[in-house]
Amino acid sequence: MSDFTHEAWGIYIAVITLISIAACAVLLQSLTTRRVRKGGEVGTTGHLWDEDLAEWNNPLPRWWIWLFYITIVFSLVYLVLYPGLGGYSGYFGWSSEGQYRNEQKRAAETFGPLIDRFLKQDIEKVAADPEARQMGQRLFLNYCAQCHGSDAGGSRGFPSLRDRDWLYGGEPAAIRASIAEGRNGIMPALGAAVGGDESVKDVAHHVLKLAGRTHDGLRAFRGGAKFETVCAACHGPEGKGNPQLGAPNLTDDIWLHGGSEAAIMETINKGRKGVMPPHKNFLDAGKIHLLAAYVYGLSREAQKP
Ligand code: HEC
Ligand code: HEC
Repeated sequence: MSDFTHEAWGIYIAVITLISIAACAVLLQSLTTRRVRKGGEVGTTGHLWDEDLAEWNNPLPRWWIWLFYITIVFSLVYLVLYPGLGGYSGYFGWSSEGQYRNEQKRAAETFGPLIDRFLKQDIEKVAADPEARQMGQRLFLNYCAQCHGSDAGGSRGFPSLRDRDWLYGGEPAAIRASIAEGRNGIMPALGAAVGGDESVKDVAHHVLKLAGRTHDGLRAFRGGAKFETVCAACHGPEGKGNPQLGAPNLTDDIWLHGGSEAAIMETINKGRKGVMPPHKNFLDAGKIHLLAAYVYGLSREAQKP
């Protein structure tokens, strides 16, 4: 009832519901008692088609009418047992939320011990356990794949979790913190601070150079000075990034928002924002542990030649 601020709305709805049911009963009654004419003779409704096709005004069969009455009785019994009349919660006290909670509780009782036994082990160790990885993968597909991709490969704006490139660090504790607490990566819009389009292009070419991409040497040289003053605070003087801020390493040619001249200029001009939502409110410690181990394991695999 959270959408309705006053309980009068509940009463309003209950009254309308009951009146509607009563009206159905009255309508049914009035239509079934005034039926056959005197003398048992059945008339027609007066409609005539195709010259001689008449519609008889026969009463409904009894069993059919009883079905209607049964639906009315059913609805009244239902409204006594289950919530449906405004704020009244029903004899059974059932609610969809309560059912969900119960199912969750039952699932936690069944799977909780299976998951929690991994909590006692280090993430590195869990990451090597095939059974734990399988459980981690299932959790990942449920909770993470919509943003990071079912293979954890990421897409534009959503980092790949299976490479060795990390915004916030790839140690088990950092990965767990990313999942549990969430992350907010903010690259401010710096077009004006850099000094207009030409300067932005210069800095972009410096970034291209850092990443080892084709670039204009003169522009990159000019952009280097600007990079020192405006960008180095977050990305570091050599552009290696800063995991405290989630500022990406710009030298590895792995891109979150695109590595073309145009994409980099857009990043500088408009800024970028990446939000990883916190998961600790709806995933318990055991599940987060398994997920962290799964992600950690993926990146370890990437390290193998
Ligand atoms: C709503 C989309 C969304 C969901 C759901 C989501 N993530 Fe993320 N995640 C992001 C974004 C966006 C970032 C990058 C944040 C940034 O740009 O600073 C991120 C970052 C991360 C990072 C840090 C990566 C790094 O390079 O340091 C990890 C680890 C991670 N996510 C794991 C997960 C796991 C595990 C799940 C499932 C429990 C998950 N994410 C669910 C969007 C999401
Ligand atoms: C206040 C800190 C901060 C400053 C200053 C800053 N950046 Fe960033 N930058 C970030 C963060 C954080 C991100 C990641 C945004 C995200 O998570 O989506 C980022 C992302 C980027 C990216 C995208 C990288 C990719 O993989 O797609 C580029 C390019 C970039 N910055 C270049 C620059 C340049 C050039 C400057 C100077 C003009 C600069 N940044 C100044 C924090 C900063």
